[in-house]
Amino acid sequence: MREKLQEIKEKTLAAITTGDINLARLEEIKVACLGKKGSLTAVLRGMGGLSAEERPVIGQLANQVRQDIEKAIEDTKARLKEEELNRTLRRETIDVTVPGNKAALGKAHALYQVEREICDIFVSMGFDIAEGPEVEYDYYNFEALNIPPNHPARDTQDTFYITDRVLLRSQTSPVQIRTMEKQKPPIRIISPGRVYRSDALDATHSPVFHQIEGLVVDKGITMGDLKGILETYAKALFGADVKLRFRPHHFPFTEPSAEVDVSCLLCGGEGCRLCKGEGWIEILGAGMVHPNVLRGCGIDPDVYSGFAFGMGVERIAMKKYEIDDIRYFYENDTRFLSQF
Ligand code: DAH
Repeated sequence: MREKLQEIKEKTLAAITTGDINLARLEEIKVACLGKKGSLTAVLRGMGGLSAEERPVIGQLANQVRQDIEKAIEDTKARLKEEELNRTLRRETIDVTVPGNKAALGKAHALYQVEREICDIFVSMGFDIAEGPEVEYDYYNFEALNIPPNHPARDTQDTFYITDRVLLRSQTSPVQIRTMEKQKPPIRIISPGRVYRSDALDATHSPVFHQIEGLVVDKGITMGDLKGILETYAKALFGADVKLRFRPHHFPFTEPSAEVDVSCLLCGGEGCRLCKGEGWIEILGAGMVHPNVLRGCGIDPDVYSGFAFGMGVERIAMKKYEIDDIRYFYENDTRFLSQF
């Protein structure tokens, strides 16, 4: 029995100390030796057959063997766990000096930046922002603006029809009517938004684009007020040096009407590629609100007068940033957009 115990001890310790020992294998060894059906347990069970002198001696030896094996198992387990921990720590080290991943920040689209800049200038002069629907009645888009059916002005503003009476608005001017129906003077509004025309997409045309409309109605409003407001606006947007030029024009909903130019932003008036040799750049249409339009909204033209103006956001952005093709705005190429 002595030899048997010695053999168990040697075999078990040898198994524990092999190089490829791991935690799972260690558990197997423990069960094979100390478990219910283990080799050492079997020996201990057989002690009943020993003589009274031998039993305490063998018993003590057996205990010693068990203690040695248990200690070897515990020590090895502790060592394996520590090695495992060190491996994990090494694997999961964080190098805090590695540069981080920069999150790309989004921003407003170039057109909306310009739109906001323009609106801010008018808001600073006391204008409110008004909004209107993009799907509009023929009445608001044309009729109430003094453009009856068959009026030639409709030809230049052909749009997309949903029914005979409902269309995609071709201008932001209908917001003038919607505002005057709801609100009586004094009125001072600016209205940005999307408009539509059945134009093919090319370098200077798009079937969808953006306009900003303005309307002021009160007692005693004159063309002088219109000039003052537009001059303040143009200088705020393009710089204090720009000059304004009013050219007589015709719009059905204003009388008198004008097209308004600014002196060329690039050459200052000499003539260059930006102004196509003209020295001037057209930026908007404007005029005094036609008496028919005021009357149609229940505002007495003998008591009140007003001015209106409308401008294309793309056109202004293109001149401001010297962009020669409108399609850049809609292609969403971030190489283009990130410049603004
Ligand atoms: N709605 C016109 C257009 O799209 C622009 C315009 C001209 C608006 C004169 C106005 C105005 O308010 O008074 O061509």
